[in-house]
Amino acid sequence: MKVLGIWGSPRVGGNTEVLLDALLRGAQEAGGEVEKVALRKLKISPCLEIYKCFETGECPIKDDMLTLYPKLLAADVVVLASPIFFYGLTAQAKAMIDRTQAFWARRYVLKQEFPGGHRQGVLLSTAATKGKHVFVGARLATYYFFDAINVRYAAEILVREVDEKGAILGRPEVLAEAEALGRRLGRGEQVGQVKVFPVV
Ligand SMILES: Cc1cc2nc3c(=O)[nH]c(=O)nc-3n(C[C@H](O)[C@H](O)[C@H](O)COP(=O)(O)O)c2cc1C
Repeated sequence: MKVLGIWGSPRVGGNTEVLLDALLRGAQEAGGEVEKVALRKLKISPCLEIYKCFETGECPIKDDMLTLYPKLLAADVVVLASPIFFYGLTAQAKAMIDRTQAFWARRYVLKQEFPGGHRQGVLLSTAATKGKHVFVGARLATYYFFDAINVRYAAEILVREVDEKGAILGRPEVLAEAEALGRRLGRGEQVGQVKVFPVV
């Protein structure tokens, strides 16, 4: 199983990185082929609405997204890890997602064959507050991201009330859950289905 972890926080050693590492560790232990991509290290332009992708299925912007497109196509499992920034995903994660409009165009405009079937998606997120609606924006954006790249929204681990760097280390039960989920995904198990709707 190819498990691709896309990490969208700018803070090295922060809560979402620790959470993602736990999942990837589990996946690797279970025999998965694991790769972690740090969006903070990549230069990814926001979508510029050129709409060339509606004709070709390719984005004409030549930047580090070029390295990520093939990984998104090849992965059996795509894990998006992003903290909540202003009730949404980080700008790094959102820029990457918007650039997958090229894949959305392949699927829904050009009606091309697209890898899918067994492919699964997972959202990992952390937030400082305990707000009831704090993950709503991130879950919706992720739902449609996973749809654009044709992976099933299979699981999510959303952690409230972690703020300082490393605060999540004080929540060993959550890290154990992430590792266990990684083990299931790494050995190719189909996990559940996240019901995003109704959104709250
Ligand atoms: C710019 C910014 C905006 C944030 N917005 C929110 C927010 O809307 N709601 C919330 O609960 N936490 C918010 N936080 C807190 C982070 O979500 C929280 O600290 C998270 O655990 C950080 O994860 P990381 O260490 O992986 O970056 C914000 C933090 C920053 C830096």
